[in-house]
Amino acid sequence: MDSLIHPPFSGMDELRKKAEALKFPLIDDSVGMFLATQARLMGAKRVMELGSGFGYSSLWLASGMGSGKLWLCEFHRYLLDEAREHLSKTGLELELEFLDGNVMDNFSRMPQDLDLIFLDIDKKFYFDAFLKALPLLRSGGLMIVDNLFLRGRLWEPDGKKQMARDQVNALLQWLFNNPQHKSQLLPISDGLLLVEK
Ligand SMILES: C[S@@+](CC[C@H](N)C(=O)[O-])C[C@H]1O[C@@H](n2cnc3c(N)ncnc32)[C@H](O)[C@@H]1O
Repeated sequence: MDSLIHPPFSGMDELRKKAEALKFPLIDDSVGMFLATQARLMGAKRVMELGSGFGYSSLWLASGMGSGKLWLCEFHRYLLDEAREHLSKTGLELELEFLDGNVMDNFSRMPQDLDLIFLDIDKKFYFDAFLKALPLLRSGGLMIVDNLFLRGRLWEPDGKKQMARDQVNALLQWLFNNPQHKSQLLPISDGLLLVEK
C-alpha cells in the first residue's frame, strides 16, 4: 500500500535513502500522507512539530498546510539547519521557527492556539510531553502522536524499553480517564494516535 503514496516534493526519496543509510528513523510515508491530508482538511495554519529530525516529516506537514507558520522543535541545531534547507526548496510561502534543545525545557517558549501538533520525540518523554503540549492547542485542535505500538514492544514483558512502555501506557490510561478529548488509535504504520482538544 505504501507504494501508492508519493512524497510531495522531489528529493524526498533521496532523503529517505540517506536516513536508511544513517539508520535515522523517519515517519513512514503513510504517516506523512495522513499528516498532510489532515492539515489540508482542517485548514491548519499554525502547526508545531516536536521531534523534527532533518525535516522529512516537516516537508509532509508543510505540503498539507501550503501556507501559515510551522514551528520545528529538535534536540540538535544541525538537524534543524538541514530541515531549513530542505523546506526552503519547496517554494511554499511558509513562516518557519526553529526551537533547538530538549522540548521538555522549551514549552514555556512555545506559542499557544495551535491548530495541529505532531509528536515524534524520544518515547521516554511521550506522556510528559503530551501533557505539556496539550495546552498549546486551540480548542478543537488536533494532536497526532506516532509510534504508539513501539514497534511491537508495547506488548513485551517488562524489561528493555520499560520507560517508553510506561509512558505510552500512562498516555493511553490518561485518555481513557479523559473522554472529553476525543481520541482514536489508528493502525497506520506503527500506531498513530489522534487526540482532539
Ligand atoms: C524519530 S526522529 C524524528 C523524525 C522526524 N519526525 C521525521 O520523520 O522526519 C526523533 C527526533 O526527535 C529528536 N528528539 C528526541 N527527543 C527529543 C526531545 N526530548 N527534545 C527535542 N528533540 C528530541 C531526536 O533528536 C530525533 O531527531
